[in-house]
Amino acid sequence: MERFNTAVDAALALRPDQPIYCFRPTVLKQDAEAFKAMFPGKTAYAVKTNGEPFVLDTLARAGIDCFDVASPAEFAAVKAAAPKAEMLYMHPIKAQSDIRLALETYRIRTLSLDHEDEVAKILRIVRALDIDPATITLFVRIATKGHAAYELSKKFGAAPGHAVELLQRIHRIGFKCGLCFHVGSQIEEPETYERALASADWIRSRAGVPIVELDVGGGFPAVYGHDPRRKAPEMPSLPELMGQVKHDIVDWGFDDLPLVAEPGRVIVARCISLIVRVLLKKGRRLYINDGIWASLSDSWTGKITLPARFIPDPARKTRAGNPDKIVPFKVCGATCDSVDILSRPFWLPETVDTGDWIEIGHIGAYSLSLRTHFNGFYPDTVIEVNTPFDDGAEPEGFASIETMAD
Ligand SMILES: Cc1ncc(COP(=O)(O)O)c(C=O)c1O
Repeated sequence: MERFNTAVDAALALRPDQPIYCFRPTVLKQDAEAFKAMFPGKTAYAVKTNGEPFVLDTLARAGIDCFDVASPAEFAAVKAAAPKAEMLYMHPIKAQSDIRLALETYRIRTLSLDHEDEVAKILRIVRALDIDPATITLFVRIATKGHAAYELSKKFGAAPGHAVELLQRIHRIGFKCGLCFHVGSQIEEPETYERALASADWIRSRAGVPIVELDVGGGFPAVYGHDPRRKAPEMPSLPELMGQVKHDIVDWGFDDLPLVAEPGRVIVARCISLIVRVLLKKGRRLYINDGIWASLSDSWTGKITLPARFIPDPARKTRAGNPDKIVPFKVCGATCDSVDILSRPFWLPETVDTGDWIEIGHIGAYSLSLRTHFNGFYPDTVIEVNTPFDDGAEPEGFASIETMAD
């Protein structure tokens, strides 16, 4: 990987026409180690957030030895980066062939589910492979309520009464029982873990079977930007939130159980920024070389505000506008599809123009993992950058969540 001190240095040296991901291994290492030190249990990094080999290798070197995986491609990626790591197969609904691969080839012994037919699928393969069910922990995923950029209980999770039945069923078969939930990605309410723990407690007491582990999922919010013209949303810092979660774990009597967390964005968001180029400025529209089919879909569907730094092209000798005036630009993505227009503006100095670059910060989560090959555009250049995005001058712009009229 080519290495630069800052993304600005990289943009000026490479003058890239293709988007470039700027990876900061030291930041990733710091964020992973910080989470691991704070969480009172096993940290299982959620590979879906960013499963690039350079990310998984860095995490393995930072001491992450457990991964939340959801597919054969994720099993293989973890095996390649961290051959001795434990994998937790926490996708509640799985293909039969994938369950077999997980149990037989990858020797995964922890799985999640939220329905009795999934128990039947797993049991069929356990019997076919002659595995003792007592060596397998099945986590019953419970539905939770709360506010997050992405609500995940709309799709997965058993209601409390159903979870009780599932626990009793898997206990009768001889599997070990665990409880898990996912409160939603990028939570917006600190009490959301407490509500899930209260529900887990109710289920545990009604089920009356031994619970061997509790998995509190992901959801821990990453630090993003915010529109400076508005009041910053009130959310505790990660150490404060973790303090509250630990307190709630004790209050609901789960502190005597081994715990697991499946953090994704909180670990990987800060370590990557993205340099995009303005291909054309048309009035208050900027046509850029990335978009919703590549690196920018999560920030738009999740209504996440990202910090943005303006990198003017020194080759442009004349500019119109006031460099100190930050104004909204409608942003059009790289593909020929007219859906590929970001519904929210980038706020940037009025002088931004064709040929300039924009560095979008904190974009390590759900960016590379969500890009598509649509229209032949597939950003895939990664460089290493030493300086954290937040060091140096404040970013002057941001990709806002506010919608903009045409
Ligand atoms: C099962 C599971 N675990 C963990 C995560 C990671 O969540 P986050 O990025 O909010 O930490 C997700 C995200 O969708 C998930 O579905």
